Amino acid sequence: MNIQAILVERFSTALAKLDAADAAVPVSKSTRPEFGEYQFNGAMGLAKRLRCSPRDVAQQILDVVDLDGIAEQCEIAGPGFINIHLSSQWLAQQASRVLADERLGIETQPQQNIVVDYSAPNLAKEMHVGHLRSTIIGDAVAKALEFMGHNVLRQNHMGDWGTQFGMLLAHLNDKLQANEVAETALSDLEDFYRQAKVRFDAEEGFADRAREYVVKLQGGDDACLALWQNFIDVSIAHSEEVYEKLNVSLTREHVMGESAYNPDLANVISDLQAQGVAVEDAGAQVVFLDELADKNGKPAVYIVQKSGGGYLYATTDLAAIRYRKQQLAAHRTLIFTDARQALHFKQTEIVARKAGFLAADEQYQHCPFGMMLGKDGKPFKTRTGGTVKLIDLLDEAVERAQTLLATRDNDFSADTLADMANKIGIGAVKYADLSKNRTTDYIFDWDAMLSFEGNTAPYLQYAFTRIQSIFNKANVTLENCRENIVINAPQEKALATKLLQYQDTLEQMAHEATPHVLCTYLYELASLYMKFYEACPILKDDVSESDKASRLALCALCSNTLSHGLDVLGIATLDKM
Ligand code: ARG
Repeated sequence: MNIQAILVERFSTALAKLDAADAAVPVSKSTRPEFGEYQFNGAMGLAKRLRCSPRDVAQQILDVVDLDGIAEQCEIAGPGFINIHLSSQWLAQQASRVLADERLGIETQPQQNIVVDYSAPNLAKEMHVGHLRSTIIGDAVAKALEFMGHNVLRQNHMGDWGTQFGMLLAHLNDKLQANEVAETALSDLEDFYRQAKVRFDAEEGFADRAREYVVKLQGGDDACLALWQNFIDVSIAHSEEVYEKLNVSLTREHVMGESAYNPDLANVISDLQAQGVAVEDAGAQVVFLDELADKNGKPAVYIVQKSGGGYLYATTDLAAIRYRKQQLAAHRTLIFTDARQALHFKQTEIVARKAGFLAADEQYQHCPFGMMLGKDGKPFKTRTGGTVKLIDLLDEAVERAQTLLATRDNDFSADTLADMANKIGIGAVKYADLSKNRTTDYIFDWDAMLSFEGNTAPYLQYAFTRIQSIFNKANVTLENCRENIVINAPQEKALATKLLQYQDTLEQMAHEATPHVLCTYLYELASLYMKFYEACPILKDDVSESDKASRLALCALCSNTLSHGLDVLGIATLDKM
């Protein structure tokens, strides 16, 4: 159910009748209820071509457009806008139909195989706040695409390979020799990394041993690989703990770390060489990119193999592209990292296309995001200036939610309170992030995100519980609220219109990989619900049975839409708050 698409179709037909089939069909949501629910803004653009005034063109369009049964009134406004007031009866019918449908009236799209590359922490270290954004934005987009009918292939491109593992393995080896267990030694990766680094910088002979480990690891030495696997397993378990706390859908089977591509890197290079895409330059293998030349015409240099023979992050990404095409049959790839990697992915895409690793109809999209900043507007850090571990941040969120709940009057059991604190705290952190346009930096602010007012998770979770309490008071279950919806009050009309815009919202969010679009929608939906609730009594004595049933049905649809949207975002709902 996509109102916008229906209107576009009707107006396209109308334009074809006016011999303007090729003209743009700009239909948009109205900004104010007085202007109706939608507007058609194409008359101005056509006026020149049809040699009459925009208002006359608008009239001609109105004369031929077929909106019977859909719109109850249309008028020409200003220079030639067409305001469309949708029919309340039609909206009511559509809303009733959507309520009866498990998929909320949302049609699936033609299925594509879509790789979503997200989270991808570096396993040498603990996950930090920088991985929050990739993990939760990627997860929300993956879930939305899946719901739209796509075959989503989650790929956790973890950083599990590289020279830094030399010193870590040397250090781990010594710990195990001293009879420590890996889980204990690696219980704090940040600490472990620091210890290894101190030894690397100061301890006689350690750096050499670390380098030997790198050579052994790359040479496929069994003992060394076993040690490495041990390290990786413990580190992945740390990430899994975070994923579980974060309520994201990533599991171990989605891990496709950098190491997985190691056996194919030499093939990537020889393939690039054979095609003349990569050439030697000062001992290294490079691709010259005229597409990204500087202002003097000097091409950008993309290194695929270092002069010593070593491979790079870039080589692995090219191998990943090949794998995703050949083994996963990907039509589209979305990669979520911070904006600082934008150039890397732009270059990688150009090289992959030159080499035929990506066909013309295959999309490769880097979805960049901005940084999380502290209240001082500087990159988010601990009080002492260190990186904030993600797990600590999440624990703090739950603690803060607990403190907040303790200040409110309630008679919940301790277990219930703990569960609520978890859902509210984690929900607040996720929503605060997801609700911001991903391309900009944002300021992390505990008080704002945990507020019950404004565009926050607690506000939406609370709105959801308010709806549940109506079903309780009415002594009905949500599933039983299936009466036909009737629309009389303007608040009912506004709410129904919003509810019917859910498909349009999800499509946009999935297409642009922008969860904030869904957040804004849910916030507006909840706000319209509150207005409806104020204006349209449901359980008062003087409300007719038919009004009551219709309004309960609207509540049910609202509840279903809110919980579905929050679920896509990976935010839990509560029955009581
Ligand atoms: N591990 C990388 C990082 O932490 C992100 C990997 C993103 N995916 C990719 N295919 N390069 O920055």
